[in-house]
Amino acid sequence: MATWSAPGKVFLFGEHAVVYGKPGVAMAIKPRVAVTVRKSRNPPHARSPYIEECFRSTGVQGSVYIRSQLPSSSGLGSSAAVTAATLAAISEEFNLGFTREEIAERAYAIEKKVQKGRASPTDTYVTTFGGIVLITGDSKRRLPPQNFHLIIGNSLVSHSTSKMVEHVAQERQRNPEIINPILDAIGAVTMKAIKSMNKPQQLGQCMDVNHALLDAIGVGHPALSKLVLTARATGAFGAKITGAGGGGCMVALCPKHAKSRVAGAMDATGARSIITTIDTEGIRREKNE
Ligand code: PMV
Repeated sequence: MATWSAPGKVFLFGEHAVVYGKPGVAMAIKPRVAVTVRKSRNPPHARSPYIEECFRSTGVQGSVYIRSQLPSSSGLGSSAAVTAATLAAISEEFNLGFTREEIAERAYAIEKKVQKGRASPTDTYVTTFGGIVLITGDSKRRLPPQNFHLIIGNSLVSHSTSKMVEHVAQERQRNPEIINPILDAIGAVTMKAIKSMNKPQQLGQCMDVNHALLDAIGVGHPALSKLVLTARATGAFGAKITGAGGGGCMVALCPKHAKSRVAGAMDATGARSIITTIDTEGIRREKNE
């Protein structure tokens, strides 16, 4: 029996623009998914397609037990975390000796297959290695870790990443002269943010500008706007949509002392807040229970 866990993630800057080769920054966050794998000839059915694919692609058979602190389908990377943790647990249980690089690559291939080609390597890379990562096209660079105080607001409005990506593609086709400069501006904000990582006021401003630009390409939602405004009004340095938008989550950067006030105000709008910070470990071996 082998148990491994993997963290969730948020996009701090650059979502949607990364699809067009602009830089984006994502960070692994504390809530984790833990997966226990045990050799077995009679694996139980009704597992997730990601887990099915982890077993199929490695050619082994086993049973799986999952414990998750991450809400699924909310843009916090739960499918990538489940996939990376399952591959790591399979590797240990069946002595396959996968390196972290191999796990990240295999997890990306699995996400791509299950999501029918619609996956960027961001989630699988960030959950496997932890920390803060700058993504530009196919290149990934780890940035120095920062002890950010983040509040995530889950609007509980359901959304679909592929529909939002499609929506931006259509808008870009219809109005390239408007949408392309906005995507360029998102890339410029990301580059500015990278230089301001240890200046929370400036970083917060970058988040606010990034949010406005995401609204401008049509991936906003009234529930997200309300959460962003609430976070700013109650003391956040800045706040923005995180991930695909159209529902799902937003993220606020806060001074330490304002965390519970901001989270409480966000909950009062009907959302579900998560107070969190960076995870620097990525996939991690856990004690078997
Ligand atoms: O909603 P999420 O966390 O899956 O983020 C989607 C981010 C996009 O840039 C919109 C798409 C992508 O694959 O990078």
